Amino acid sequence: MNEYLIEGGKALAGEVTIGGAKNAALGILAAAIMTDEEVTIENLPNVSDINVLLEAIAGIGATVKRLDEHTVRMSGRTITSETVDSEYIQKIRASYYLLGALLGKRGKATVAMPGGCNIGARPMDQHLKGLRALGAEVVTENGFIKAKAEEMRGTHIFLDVVSVGATINIMLAAVMTQGMTIIENVAKEPHIVDVANFLNSMGANIKGAGTDVIRIRGVSQLHASTYSIIPDQIEAGTFMCLAVATKGDILLKNVIPKHLEAITAKLVEIGAEVRENDDSIRVVATRRLRATQVKTRVYPGFPTDMQPQMATVLTLSRGISTVTESIFENRFLYVAELLKMGAKVSVEGNVAVIEGVEELAGAALDAPDLRAGAALTIAALAAKGKSTIRQIEYIERGYENFEGKLRELGASITKQPVKGRGKASGIA
Ligand code: UD1
Repeated sequence: MNEYLIEGGKALAGEVTIGGAKNAALGILAAAIMTDEEVTIENLPNVSDINVLLEAIAGIGATVKRLDEHTVRMSGRTITSETVDSEYIQKIRASYYLLGALLGKRGKATVAMPGGCNIGARPMDQHLKGLRALGAEVVTENGFIKAKAEEMRGTHIFLDVVSVGATINIMLAAVMTQGMTIIENVAKEPHIVDVANFLNSMGANIKGAGTDVIRIRGVSQLHASTYSIIPDQIEAGTFMCLAVATKGDILLKNVIPKHLEAITAKLVEIGAEVRENDDSIRVVATRRLRATQVKTRVYPGFPTDMQPQMATVLTLSRGISTVTESIFENRFLYVAELLKMGAKVSVEGNVAVIEGVEELAGAALDAPDLRAGAALTIAALAAKGKSTIRQIEYIERGYENFEGKLRELGASITKQPVKGRGKASGIA
């Protein structure tokens, strides 16, 4: 167990290269087992969530070979089991993509039911509704979801809730299902498009990813592919907020500026300078910024995964801001930590009201979940004095070499072992 030791108060400046999108990679790795041929995935982020999913995939017998830190070669030909051990689901919810992938490939799948987590209850009803509509028999018993189907058929599915996970899981189950599947009211996040593009690169016939309606014509089999994952929108957004909070000047390389529009718009609105190039973006903030209102929305709205980082920026902005969380019910756990630093924030229901202060002070902090952990790191780097952040295992689930990248930008941050602390166990 490690913690960060941070000495804050410096304007961070320089260049940072953004890695592959974790949430795209989770869907893509599950999709990769659907062909019996070899698949090579490039630009894979080396973070613990990805490594756990690769273990889960190896655990069902698929071949997984790491070619280098960011490249993996896989084959689903050697799969021997359709049951995903509950150990993996407990560590990482997105192992449930193997439900759709195995059902689509082998006609049956058993995965443990993921529980809620620190940010909310996170039901799976829309996933199961979609699989049932395709013709699968799905039961939940003794904490497991068991799905099987003699034969599935393309159908028309209307999601009641816009869900990233349900969209991907149903897409995986439908890709080799005979006939046409139409899924309406789907999520449009960049990583949905990336998973669809990857499946199409293996011979799938998916149209409409990135719009409200996805149309999938089932194909009988998928084939080999080499595919490079898109850059991580949330890692990029985190460094953008870092530049603003520390009044710094950061050039982010390997980004898709279009995916960052909602974040860029808010930062410009509060007075930051954001310059977009083809595949890089520069964020400069030389003075104290203004307050604003932020409401999280499904893509292309402001991402819930950027809510804690943006709220942290607003604790230092002039005036009163509001941050409304409309996706998850419990995503303000980090506020208690910001209060220790002198921030003025009150939370009522799903709205945080933030009265900007001139500066934050270093404190002993605990990361309550992945994105909140990143937000607290931003707060500590902007604050005057020393901070410690514990439970950084959360941060390592989704940020590769976070402290190394921060040091390159001039941050004073070290990782050191913690003695006698409990282990973090929540799921993001
Ligand atoms: C994904 C992302 C996560 C991000 C979230 C929202 C991955 C691995 N994770 O999570 O980082 O914060 O999208 O952008 O990609 N819901 C239901 N029933 C369902 C499914 C979802 O009611 O069957 C609700 C959820 O409780 C939540 C909302 O729909 O309120 C959105 O959830 P969803 O988009 O499914 O999030 P995840 O896919 O879990």
